[in-house]
Amino acid sequence: MPAEQSPALPIARTCPYAPRDEHVRLRETDPVSKVTLPTGAEVWVVTRHEDIRALLADTRFSSDRRRPGFPMLDNGSGAPTDVLPPLLLTMDPPEHGPARRAVLGEFTVKRMNKLKPRIQEIVDEHIDRMLAGPRPVDLVRALSLPVPSLVISELLGVPYDDHAFFQSRSASLVSRTVSQEEKQKALFDLAGYLDELLRAKEEVPTDDLLGRQILRQREVNGAVDRKDLMGLAFLLLIAGHETTANMISLTMLQLVRDPGAREALRQDPGTTLPAVEELLRYFTIAEQALARVAVEDVELGGRLIKAGDGVLALAHTANRDPRVFPDPDTFDVGRGARNHLAFGYGHHQCLGQNLARLELQIVIDTLLRKIPDIRPAVPVDELSFKDDAIIYGIYEFPVTW
Ligand code: HEM
Repeated sequence: MPAEQSPALPIARTCPYAPRDEHVRLRETDPVSKVTLPTGAEVWVVTRHEDIRALLADTRFSSDRRRPGFPMLDNGSGAPTDVLPPLLLTMDPPEHGPARRAVLGEFTVKRMNKLKPRIQEIVDEHIDRMLAGPRPVDLVRALSLPVPSLVISELLGVPYDDHAFFQSRSASLVSRTVSQEEKQKALFDLAGYLDELLRAKEEVPTDDLLGRQILRQREVNGAVDRKDLMGLAFLLLIAGHETTANMISLTMLQLVRDPGAREALRQDPGTTLPAVEELLRYFTIAEQALARVAVEDVELGGRLIKAGDGVLALAHTANRDPRVFPDPDTFDVGRGARNHLAFGYGHHQCLGQNLARLELQIVIDTLLRKIPDIRPAVPVDELSFKDDAIIYGIYEFPVTW
């Protein structure tokens, strides 16, 4: 396809609640097609649900950012760096399986249920603090960000007192507007911090995820690979709070926009979990995060993807695919959306999904119970959405009651 015919990314949204119009057009007319990235590289975009599942389940597509042709959304974000080892997210089989299994046990539903009382306590404390303080309050700062941040810090064994430090570095790393120098600095800062933390944990064992990984490595390998654990800590710390935080803000926005759904959930908290699935489908916040490069020639959706071609899976567009979700642009709290791609699909499917679901469920139930009349303190069309970030969300969400 000639370069001038390839639409250029990024494309702004015309509606904060819908995928980009151009992506929807491609899904209906040219579902596996080429686009031009800001770097000038031409890559494939895949927009239909069925094709994305095939792509993400196929090991002929690699997640390794160091491979030539890997689609970078900006000049160098996620570029190879010696500071970190390959992360779970960027590993391919056969390395990926054992690395994932080493930590999988920390994220089972059973394990998450054990965290439930502590998550409830954290959510209660933050909402009570909101209720006791002045109004309006920015929900992002008061609840959305601190809750998942505190939960992942405690799970990993990272002191929450350092949250301002790691939250600001994480925000830089997932932004598309922050300069490469700033991103590199954020990366070095975080890596240095985690290296120091792990060194201390090696000396004085702690009963937390990182402490348990140290013990495990000593048992299995006879020694600790600190760089490997730093990569794990880095990934979990960033993935564990940026994503869920954005999802909490968008969830509350959607529930204030849809009073019927909000009332249904308030009256029957038993329906919260299916509602969480619909919220995940509707917003698909990690839309820009699913990238791969072909390591062999592969036919996908009737197109030949050549070895070395970059591919982006536009999961938000696919989660509005009418072939899978009837009336897909309607937010239907009772839909019970299954098979959505908000957590990806295949061997890299989100490791923290059970934790994210639990946090969202507890926040929704508690907030609707404690502050049933919560509402935006500004017109919602004045909110500033994170159209520029790799993970979608809202920068600030002033609320009152
Ligand atoms: C992977 C989304 C919360 C840890 C992924 C992927 C997506 C995703 C789409 C797949 C990436 C790919 O295939 O390339 C989300 C969303 C979340 C969320 C929407 C919240 C609503 C979390 C949490 C944690 C976490 C709370 C950690 C505690 C991870 C990890 C991976 C991952 C470690 C890589 C797994 C692997 O490569 O094997 N996430 N995530 N995520 N997520 Fe999440």
